[in-house]
Amino acid sequence: MNELDSLIDGARIAFAQAQTPSDLENAKAQFLGKSGRLTELMKGMGALSVEDKKTRGASINLAKQAIESALAGRRQELVETELQLQLKSEALDVSLPGRQRGLGGLHPVSLTLERIEGIFGSMGFDVAEGPEIETDWFNFTALNTPEDHPARSMHDTFYVEGGYLLRTHTSPMQIRHAVQHVKKHRAIIDAGGTMPEIRVIAPGRTYRVDSDATHSPMFHQCEGLWVGENVSFKDLKVVFTDFCRTFFESDDLVLRFRPSFFPFTEPSAEIDIQFQRGPLSGRWLEVAGSGQVHPNVIRNMGLDPEKYIGFAFGMGPDRLTMLRYDVNDLRLFFDGDIRFLSQFQ
Ligand code: DAH
Repeated sequence: MNELDSLIDGARIAFAQAQTPSDLENAKAQFLGKSGRLTELMKGMGALSVEDKKTRGASINLAKQAIESALAGRRQELVETELQLQLKSEALDVSLPGRQRGLGGLHPVSLTLERIEGIFGSMGFDVAEGPEIETDWFNFTALNTPEDHPARSMHDTFYVEGGYLLRTHTSPMQIRHAVQHVKKHRAIIDAGGTMPEIRVIAPGRTYRVDSDATHSPMFHQCEGLWVGENVSFKDLKVVFTDFCRTFFESDDLVLRFRPSFFPFTEPSAEIDIQFQRGPLSGRWLEVAGSGQVHPNVIRNMGLDPEKYIGFAFGMGPDRLTMLRYDVNDLRLFFDGDIRFLSQFQ
C-alpha cells in the first residue's frame, strides 16, 4: 500500500473512531488542518520537478478528496446518531392518557344555598345579603335582645374593636332589609296605603365561639322573613313545610313546631323534621328556629305592629347539607379536603 493509500485508511479509521462532532473536528485537524499530515505532504512538493509536481499533485488531490468524502460521510452519520438519541430521549407515548385540569364544582354548602334560594325564589322571596361584621344594634338590640338579656350568653362571639362584632346569626338582616324596604315605600305607608309585603331570605356566614362535630366557629344560616298586613303562623307552617318537602324531595316528610323561646319572636317555635324513609327515618331532627315577629321588632323596622304582622325563621344550611348527603361531621365541610369535596360533583 502506498503512502497516500495508508494515509486515506488512517483518516477513515480516525474518523470512524470519533464518537462526537468535536472528536471528528480533532481528527480532521490531524489530516487536513494547517499542520495536518496531508497538508505536510503538499508542502513537501516544492522540491519536485514540474513533471513530478503534476503527477504527485493529482494523486494528493485524489487522496484529499477521498479523505474529505470520508469526513463528510462520518459527519452525516454522527448527525443521524445524535438525532436518533434525541428522538429516543424525547419519546412521546401518544397512547398515554392526557393530563387533565379537572372540572371544578360548587361546595356542598353552596349547592344547598343555591337550592334554598331556588325554592324560596319560586315562592316569591327576594334574596338579600348583609355584612358579617355587624353592630350590636342590628345583631341584638333591634332584635329585642337588650344588653344583659340572658339570650345574649348563647351567642358568644368574636368582638371587633369599635363596638362591632361578628354576627351570631342572620337575623340582623331582618331589620336591615325591612328598614330599606320601608324607606322605599315610605310615601305609601305615610298615606295610609298598603305597603308591598316584605318577603325575603338572607343566607350567609355567621360566627360563634363553638367548635365540635356539629358546631363550627364559622357556620351558615339562612334567615327568612315575611311581613304584611295579614301573614299568620299558618303561613309559616305552609311555607316551611313546602320548602322542606321540596328541598329533601320527600312528599311525606313530617314537620313538628315545638314551642320555644327567642327574644325576637312571640310565639316562638323550633322546627323539627322527620323522614318516613331512609337511614334517618323516625328521628326528629331540628332544622330551624321560627316564630311570629315580636311587636318590638316590627317597631324597629319602622312599622306599626297594630297593622303589620309576620313570621320569621332561621335555619342552618350546614345541617341541611349534612342531612341531605348523610354527612356526620360538620368540620368536613370546612377542611377543604378535595377527596371529600369531589364527591359532591
Ligand atoms: N337567629 C336564631 C338563632 O340563631 C334563629 C331564629 C329563630 C331566627 C327564630 C328567626 C326566628 O328568624 O324567628 O338561633
